[in-house]
Amino acid sequence: MEITVQLAQTRKPKPQDESKLGFGKLFTDHMFVMEYDADQGWHDARIVPYDTFQLSPASSVLHYGQSIFEGLKAYRRKDGGVQIFRQRDNFERMNRSAARMCMPQLDVDFCEKALIQLLKLEEEWVPHSEGTSLYIRPTMVANDATLGVHAAHSYIFYIILSPVGAYYAEGLKPVKIFVENEYVRAVKGGTGFAKTAANYAASILAGEIAARRGYAQVLWLDGKERRYVEEVGSMNIMFVIDGTLVSPALQGSILPGITRDSVLKLAKDKGMKVEERPITIQEVFDSQASGKLQEVFGTGTAAVISPVSHLDWDGNIIEIGGGEMGPVASYMYDTLTGIQFGAKDDPFHWITRIS
Ligand code: COI
Repeated sequence: MEITVQLAQTRKPKPQDESKLGFGKLFTDHMFVMEYDADQGWHDARIVPYDTFQLSPASSVLHYGQSIFEGLKAYRRKDGGVQIFRQRDNFERMNRSAARMCMPQLDVDFCEKALIQLLKLEEEWVPHSEGTSLYIRPTMVANDATLGVHAAHSYIFYIILSPVGAYYAEGLKPVKIFVENEYVRAVKGGTGFAKTAANYAASILAGEIAARRGYAQVLWLDGKERRYVEEVGSMNIMFVIDGTLVSPALQGSILPGITRDSVLKLAKDKGMKVEERPITIQEVFDSQASGKLQEVFGTGTAAVISPVSHLDWDGNIIEIGGGEMGPVASYMYDTLTGIQFGAKDDPFHWITRIS
């Protein structure tokens, strides 16, 4: 399929002070869009000026939430070039989300080509300062203008780009996390493994309550017994217990994070003992009591590596690693960002150069 290009008449000014970027507040001059319907399949692929969409008030995504998205980043190398990280994994995960949400499959090769063409056009938007990058948000939404509950026949897929700094206001400073005992994010058989809007909508109330209590995020427990640790919602979670890196096993209700997978591979490569297994919140607190809990950190595209300083479970608050970022989190942060920004070798072939 051919991609047509319509250039923006005017260009927005690039941010002067990259230390104030925050996350996802500003968007570049162009976006990629294509549409799907049952007769034509995906069609009308185009790069156009960044703009609003016109949607019918009856549009199915607004009512029944067939909506999936991805998050990945473009990084500025020291030599001025730009590169992306594991983009095919993102589009492959998007296809798994699409299958769960009864939405059409994407051609991974074509999405990769469209993304690279868009990035080449928007290259100047990739920020230069340390800790910044260009966040890429591929999104697919249903768009039938009818109110029946069924899989839509029409969809929009688009990619927007946003220059970003740190996801958390704390930056690389450890964050405090509230263990959520009442609300749940996902259950087995549900949509937890899919990157779909509903999972995020389900998380907002608990997130707001935790924020009012001074916590950056909530740690979700399993939906059945509220015993097993799942994920944070904006990131996967990892524990270093007695020298072993432990992360909850993916069993359908946890997002299969690409940063999570990268960190597990880097840990194995370094010869660390790695376990993907069910882990109860009780075990985490018991490990702290016996002095075996060395580190807790989150992993995500937006969050990168985010050390956790405190966990609050039902009013029991533990401080982890003296409230400081530990050596495993530091190693993972340095190695991962080193690969992403081109300062370190890329032994796993995760990088694609744009320029
Ligand atoms: C990401 O890390 O890319 C995410 O999508 C998490 C969050 C910003 C929703």
